[in-house]
Amino acid sequence: MNENAPEGVAVDDARSREILGLGWGGVAHFADLLAQEGELRGLIGPRELPKLWTRHVLNSAAVAQFLPETGSLADVGSGAGLPGVVLALMRPDLEVHLVEPMQRRVEWLREVGEELDLDNVTVHQVRAEELHGRLLVDAVTARAVAALDRLAQFCMPLVAPGGRLLAQKGQRAEEEVAKADRVLHKLGVVEVTVHAVDMLGDGDVTRVVEARKR
Ligand SMILES: C[S@@+](CC[C@H](N)C(=O)[O-])C[C@H]1O[C@@H](n2cnc3c(N)ncnc32)[C@H](O)[C@@H]1O
Repeated sequence: MNENAPEGVAVDDARSREILGLGWGGVAHFADLLAQEGELRGLIGPRELPKLWTRHVLNSAAVAQFLPETGSLADVGSGAGLPGVVLALMRPDLEVHLVEPMQRRVEWLREVGEELDLDNVTVHQVRAEELHGRLLVDAVTARAVAALDRLAQFCMPLVAPGGRLLAQKGQRAEEEVAKADRVLHKLGVVEVTVHAVDMLGDGDVTRVVEARKR
């Protein structure tokens, strides 16, 4: 337990409730666990704590509206569980795979899965490449993992035909898409859309690159 971490980091306001829907309670619990232990366990930096709820937890929900209506999801490079744990709590109907190679992050993800009773979640301690030919899902999410051209190379082989990669990106999303154009085409991507999502209505826009596979 980190004595300096704030307790009750979740904000119970109308916007958070609207964004997280029925997942609010579980996500609030997750955020509190992360606030208590995240820094101590090297999962988040100390400067991230004050913005944990808005810039990390709620921000992770930006991809939720682009998820399939049913099926499976792999969150590649889950780290502390962003966005994978948040999405698993928002969408208990989806089968969620958290893909993360680092031991201490995997231990954290497994503990969180137990604490939050996430029975729709499987944690894989591997690099995404190691799952090629072994796992196929309807959607892959990735937040702050790699530049799009490289990310697509290890994520697209996990995407089933007709499925999509949903990559959370910053302001340079369009540039990354232009740079990755040939790679995406080679990997069977037939359509790329960059969605601008203003989660909090404060002008701070998150870009979600949606790359749909043939
Ligand atoms: C900067 S962290 C971001 C973590 C989290 N997605 C977030 O938004 O806070 C990047 C994570 O991607 C993981 N990673 C990097 N390359 C990967 C790969 N090829 N397959 C799976 N995970 C990978 C790293 O271990 C690390 O935990």
